Amino acid sequence: MLSQTQVDLIRNSAERLADANVAATNAFYANLFKVAPGIRNLFSEDMFEQSEKLWNTIVKVVESASNLTEIEAELKALGARHVKYGAEPAHYIVVTDVLIQTISTLMNKEWTDETRVAWKTALEAVCATMLEGAAQHAT
Ligand code: HEM
Repeated sequence: MLSQTQVDLIRNSAERLADANVAATNAFYANLFKVAPGIRNLFSEDMFEQSEKLWNTIVKVVESASNLTEIEAELKALGARHVKYGAEPAHYIVVTDVLIQTISTLMNKEWTDETRVAWKTALEAVCATMLEGAAQHAT
């Protein structure tokens, strides 16, 4: 559960990133494939559409940050679809770390530890919900 301050920190940083959305997602995938080269082949060659979808999900998460249960069903379905993409639980930790690292680089001087904790809390909740959906899908 995010505090109102954390919701505000996430919203403010997302606003800063809005102009850089293409750069942000490109940087994210470049960092991700550097850290975890093994998962590159799970994705298609052309990452453009993929980047847009990821960004749209982040926007949704930011919009629902004060009440993530609002998008719970959607996140569970997203997690269930990820089973067939080949996503494994350990990958989610890498994705969370790389997303935070990418956002922190783009935010530069405006990045604080409090902002890091806010994003980490939100993304961990998102990943946990996706993984719940993935587990339900598997049974
Ligand atoms: C914060 C967690 C994540 C979010 C928000 C996210 C979001 C998305 C979205 C929105 C799509 C578009 C397709 C759809 O809606 O079904 C997608 C596709 C995909 N995701 Fe994720 N994802 C996450 C974590 C992961 C992880 C951990 C992996 C592990 C490798 C992964 C691998 C993929 C792959 C391979 C595709 C399909 C790409 C293609 O069709 O070429 N994702 N993801």
